[in-house]
Amino acid sequence: MRNNQSKTDKRITLAWTGASGAPYGLRLLACLLKAEYEVFLLVSSAAKVVLATEEGLKLPSDLRAAKALLSTHLNVSTEKMTICTKEDWFSPVASGSSAPKKMVVCPCSMGSLGAIAHGMSDNLIERASDVVLKERGQLLLVVRETPFSTLHLENMLKLSKMGVTIMPAAPGFYHQPQSIEDLVDFMVARVLDHLEVPHLLSGRWGYSS
Ligand SMILES: Cc1cc2nc3c(=O)[nH]c(=O)nc-3n(C[C@H](O)[C@H](O)[C@H](O)COP(=O)(O)O)c2cc1C
Repeated sequence: MRNNQSKTDKRITLAWTGASGAPYGLRLLACLLKAEYEVFLLVSSAAKVVLATEEGLKLPSDLRAAKALLSTHLNVSTEKMTICTKEDWFSPVASGSSAPKKMVVCPCSMGSLGAIAHGMSDNLIERASDVVLKERGQLLLVVRETPFSTLHLENMLKLSKMGVTIMPAAPGFYHQPQSIEDLVDFMVARVLDHLEVPHLLSGRWGYSS
């Protein structure tokens, strides 16, 4: 997969879908904003249900209120974040002429995985993914389900062959996590590594210095 994004282009699309793993998505958003990325945030209807279930966070449909709530919840400035609605076809992420070249779907449901694998483009998350694929950008899917069906695996293989990075939400235990936050940070650190976003989250494999 070719990546046209210049090293100085700090723009990224982050999508939250309705798989379990809202804490990953929230932590990733906080890290990207702290790293001063301009983030286009896309949230599916099911992701809102998962956010409420897993984090007790009820994201308002009013976009300004949603931005304010996320800023307070994450204790980070959301000034550089734009939340786009599911049919905002005029959003920059909906067109190859203006979309960021990097996109992460975290967490990624099997429903969104299938839709992306088949180019459905029926909502902004699917369309933005399709744009990143056609523009040969960097697409990361932090998928979550267990067990995987053959269909899930086929969809992942199909996308992987197109250069998409499939990152199962499967944190390791070799760093001896003491808390849920440690497990979340493990996954988010691996995603940030792939995006080449500097961070100070969990360490890497190898000798400690
Ligand atoms: C609390 C909760 C947890 C869920 N966990 C998963 C999951 O881990 N993986 C998955 O593929 N779907 C999961 N689902 C089902 C998806 O949300 C559902 O298939 C939805 O249609 C996905 O839509 P979306 O891809 O547009 O977000 C979960 C739903 C809820 C309410």
